[in-house]
Amino acid sequence: MNSDLQETAMMNAAVDLVLTPNFPRAEYDNSDRARYERCIKTSKRVRWDIDADVFRGRSFDFSRKFLPDGLSKANEVPFLTPDEQRMWSQVQGRTYPAMFGMAERFIGAKTLELASTHRLEDWVCIEGLVRFTDEELKHQELFRRMESSIATRLPSGYAFLADPNHVARNVLKKSTWAVLAFTCHVELFTQVHYRESIGPDEQLSDLYRDIFRYHWLEECQHAIMDEIEWRRADATLTLEQRDHAVDELIALLLSLDALLRQQSSADAGYFMRTCDRNFTVGEQRIIRDTMLRAYRWQYIGSGLKHPHFRELLASMITPAQLMRIDMALHAVMT
Ligand SMILES: [Fe+2]
Ligand SMILES: [Fe+2]
Repeated sequence: MNSDLQETAMMNAAVDLVLTPNFPRAEYDNSDRARYERCIKTSKRVRWDIDADVFRGRSFDFSRKFLPDGLSKANEVPFLTPDEQRMWSQVQGRTYPAMFGMAERFIGAKTLELASTHRLEDWVCIEGLVRFTDEELKHQELFRRMESSIATRLPSGYAFLADPNHVARNVLKKSTWAVLAFTCHVELFTQVHYRESIGPDEQLSDLYRDIFRYHWLEECQHAIMDEIEWRRADATLTLEQRDHAVDELIALLLSLDALLRQQSSADAGYFMRTCDRNFTVGEQRIIRDTMLRAYRWQYIGSGLKHPHFRELLASMITPAQLMRIDMALHAVMT
């Protein structure tokens, strides 16, 4: 080897070291690379712009609902008038993008970290993960734009309580396995919400519905890449490490539930203040309980019960560990 080639080889080895600092790594197989290639191809084909494709100069239609009843459970509060049901769906429809914006803060940070752990030979995977990160950054901007627009029309007094950076810092303290499991659950429920509830409901604000259609188009690729990375992280774990990671996943889901209890209480209070009447103590309790049930279903139940998520979990952990997760989340899921 001449000295130029030797120097290049040394530089490549040094770059590889910089890109993979102490990160346990399982190799990809060809089917993973092929799946990454398909994700990149689809990501390029469906890519959209916030203004040119999504907003197109439009505003939200406040005479219509934002979130469908299947997610908001507006139809499970029997004493609400149609106007109040619409407000109920718009209050939850304001929290909905804020929750996604919060989740995408830690998802984007983790994806960026994963991209930096790949060997240079895995450039297809790096490109897939960089596109994934870029899309999550764009989605956060989209959700901020939604909040600014909705805030101009709904009464003052609304508050989204969680600080996305604080939440992200706490989530990212957990193992990669637990963060990717938690992320996969988010990526899968995002899709099922659009496909089964938001997409088919023509009564919703057109812009609101369209936003989640565009979001869904890019999220489909995220779930595939997340699954590949989750399996890759799983292949590096010992039995003890995986058992600990299961506890971390439970802790993440229970922390999310604590956040949902606070936000649903704040949103129920805000909703009641925006209604032009007083509710009895019994009605107030029903409003608070139903709001919490709706949030638990949206952000935990619809992910944990997702057939593909359960299939993935069951393929990586033991039946006893799966039961441990179900037992820990039992109160949340009922
Ligand atoms: Fe997203
Ligand atoms: Fe995503």
